Amino acid sequence: MAGEGDRERSSALVAGLAGISLRCGRCGTAIAADRSPGRCGCGGLYEVVYTRAPAIDLRAFERRLGSWEALDRSGVWRYRELLPPLPSERIVTRPEGNTNLYSHPALSAWTGCTNLIVKHEGENPTGSFKDRGMTVAISHARAVGARAVACASTGNTSASVAAYAALAGLPSVVFLPAGKIAAGKLGQAIAYGARIVQVEGDFDAAMQLVEAASSELDLYLLNSVNPFRLEGQKTIVFELLHQLAWEPPDWIVLPGGNLGNTAAFGAALEQLVRWGLVAQLPRLAVIQAEGAAPFYAAYRSGFVELRPVRAETVATAIRIGNPVSYERARRAIEFTRGVVEIVSDEEILDAKAVVDRAGIGCEPASAASVAGVRKLVAQGVIRPGDRVVAVLTGHVLKDPDAIIAYHLAGERRPLANRPVTIPPSLAALREVLDDAG
Ligand code: F0G
Repeated sequence: MAGEGDRERSSALVAGLAGISLRCGRCGTAIAADRSPGRCGCGGLYEVVYTRAPAIDLRAFERRLGSWEALDRSGVWRYRELLPPLPSERIVTRPEGNTNLYSHPALSAWTGCTNLIVKHEGENPTGSFKDRGMTVAISHARAVGARAVACASTGNTSASVAAYAALAGLPSVVFLPAGKIAAGKLGQAIAYGARIVQVEGDFDAAMQLVEAASSELDLYLLNSVNPFRLEGQKTIVFELLHQLAWEPPDWIVLPGGNLGNTAAFGAALEQLVRWGLVAQLPRLAVIQAEGAAPFYAAYRSGFVELRPVRAETVATAIRIGNPVSYERARRAIEFTRGVVEIVSDEEILDAKAVVDRAGIGCEPASAASVAGVRKLVAQGVIRPGDRVVAVLTGHVLKDPDAIIAYHLAGERRPLANRPVTIPPSLAALREVLDDAG
């Protein structure tokens, strides 16, 4: 006999999830969208399949910009016709997105790209692009009656999970590589009330543990294994194109770690082309940190295979050696005639200093995209006049230790901005200001 929970669950599903199913990207098996979507039996990941073509009205997107309704104000749910049809009473939103585009002469000069725009996903409610995926996945979790949610994380996903679970009134458990999380992110997860499990090991070990735990312990999994996360992250591309009056740039450049965003961008572009919303396809450029670059190695070998690596980089957000979304990210690169490149920690930190000094600011992993633009321009892959959008994935305050370490490191850094300490006298002040020229 069906219990109260089951009845509630099935009525929510009838109301909300009729228009979609989940299909394994590897073996094609289809399942109903009524549970926490872990892996398929074959090891592949599910994707959301829409059983109806969306009714797209660009004027509706435009009109919603002037509305006070939460779903209209969200830079995710504004595009709801392109998203899973979740019951609106289950949707949890802050709201997300509405992230701005910036250009700055210093960024153009440093990268050699005159037409460079950055889209600042650090302007999301918890300071990273993860919120876009989280609002969709946690709303699905509520729609299917999840009792508790979980993720493994290099920091940003955990901050977002903790906040959205608290908003939804659900308990959350986050699995973090012990001692490897930037201070801002750990602080957020603690403050928002997640149960924090620090795993002795790296992100990849934490990821394995949470996948096992979610199926054994009935925890709804909120990593990008979950296809609803990727549906939300597609809106970075939707919103970007809306901001550019549906005129695609030549390139979209983003950092790659677990490769969920790469997969989401590729899927979004496939859909936009299929629906006739863009005629010309931007090329994706995925940038990895040199010490955490299994996707780059696979790309260089013609995608023969992915060999997991032991990852090390100052950009802790992308310190990942065995990316979960490899297969779908590969598809994104192939579909967009994209490229994958690596940058050193030094290049990442210099790029970050330029972005920060421009008054824009970002966390180290985000700066990989700007460092990547510079390298690809130098190689002649990106032409200096190409229209390029680099995505800044996280906020400058996420990793204050990286800022302090860079600027106090000594003379090697041309952009170092060292604080000075003086006695409280005007004479001492004059001396310091004279020194500064
Ligand atoms: N930039 C930032 C700031 C991130 O936090 C992440 C991933 C990425 C880039 C890479 O994105 O995984 O989609 O390729 N952070 C995850 C986390 C892994 O747990 O917060 P990806």
